[in-house]
Amino acid sequence: MAQDSVTVIDNRTGRSYEIPIVDGTVRAMDFRQIKVSSDDFGLMVYDPAFTNTASCRSSITYIDGERGILEYRGYPIDQLAEHSTFLEAAYLVIYGELPTRAQLDQWTRNITYHTYVHENIKRFMAGYNYDAHPMGILVGTTAALSTFYPDAKDVDDPQSREMQTWRLLAKMPTIAAYAFRHSHGLPYVYPDNDLSYTGNFLSMLWKMSEPQYKPNPVLEHALDVLFILHADHEQNCSANAMRSVGSSRPDPYSATAAATAALYGPLHGGANEAVIRMLLQIGDKKNVPEFIRHVKAGERKLMGFGHRIYKSYDPRAKIIKRTAYEVFEIAGRNPLIDVALELERAALEDEYFIERKLYPNVDFYSGIIYQALGFSMEMFPVLFAIARTAGWLAQWREMITDPEQKIARPRQVYTGLRRRDFVPIEERGKVAVA
Ligand code: CMC
Repeated sequence: MAQDSVTVIDNRTGRSYEIPIVDGTVRAMDFRQIKVSSDDFGLMVYDPAFTNTASCRSSITYIDGERGILEYRGYPIDQLAEHSTFLEAAYLVIYGELPTRAQLDQWTRNITYHTYVHENIKRFMAGYNYDAHPMGILVGTTAALSTFYPDAKDVDDPQSREMQTWRLLAKMPTIAAYAFRHSHGLPYVYPDNDLSYTGNFLSMLWKMSEPQYKPNPVLEHALDVLFILHADHEQNCSANAMRSVGSSRPDPYSATAAATAALYGPLHGGANEAVIRMLLQIGDKKNVPEFIRHVKAGERKLMGFGHRIYKSYDPRAKIIKRTAYEVFEIAGRNPLIDVALELERAALEDEYFIERKLYPNVDFYSGIIYQALGFSMEMFPVLFAIARTAGWLAQWREMITDPEQKIARPRQVYTGLRRRDFVPIEERGKVAVA
């Protein structure tokens, strides 16, 4: 009997099965052979929300949730946050290696070249209502990009994949900034390709009548660090959406729109907006104990706390907390930081949170920085989406070229009624429905 295996005994039949273990996993399909009779479908595994199912093999991002480790392609997140730039980190996440100087220059040129969007995209965006949530605009407009680039449908062509990668990374900030300007009734600002990726984004957001916008280097750097921290996070909800939708092989704009929609939710990218709303509601440090009582009674969630993978301090939250103070030096202190610090202190000392291993996640402090940088809450998930586009593209490219991947199509445990005869409308309601 092979040592790297498990033996499963089916108590219904007394038969035993040897299931191989590879990389700490068993294959769900190996359970299908376990049957009570030849016409039995075979055993399935049931895993709602994929809490213990690996859906792919990936070499992009490593997380050790117990130890609070996050690495892109083996490089620790804190080293990247300290020494790298978002575009360099995006290159690393997508191609697997840090670029040489020549590669980085070429990569930067390719992305810079594609920052403009078609004028019809601008007109398309003008159709959104004045109070449209910028994340809704981003979802819709990213999907609309697919109609502008029919060549993107050829997902099996490596050159096409390359081109769409540049375009998506380049155009997300442009669309995001246009969405912001639209919701404020301000004229759109065209990209300034003399600025850095993040500097240009700030220019498209804030430029008014000055001939050239000059981003504050500290704030530009802080946003760049936030982008690095958000670039990828392995098989999270939106990466899974990117892979799942991408597996039916639509163009990557459609798949990215789906991933952006997944990010929109308050349990994922919308969490930092929910954190700020929560902090505003708490209002003052003195109200923290009462709030914690509500959380423990199951009436509220402590937003920005807890994570499916991290069962210790999210390493990104540590870096963000540090960066917040650099931003406050320039932009002024966000008073919500005091409520947040007190909330963190109280939660980390409380049995409820200790027992469940609930620690601050990336979203606990990011909203506070975004707010200090001048962003409205609606823009928070949009900022997340810009950075995460790098990860989505890396995940999508890996999925497309993985010979093991097929169209994602889970099974179900059917719990509904079985065959029954159609009831004419006049006769319905006479018999109680079982
Ligand atoms: N506040 C209070 N209790 C919590 C929280 C929280 N934030 N998170 C988890 N719990 C409790 C939960 O009620 C459960 O308790 P019990 O065992 O008594 O039923 C226990 O902890 C385990 O939680 P879970 O819901 O099984 O954990 P999950 O892995 O399904 O959920 C999560 C992970 C991130 C959705 C959840 O922790 C949460 O809703 N957090 C708040 C929202 C948030 O901050 N989301 C951002 C996540 S990080 C960024 C990203 O990935 O986009």
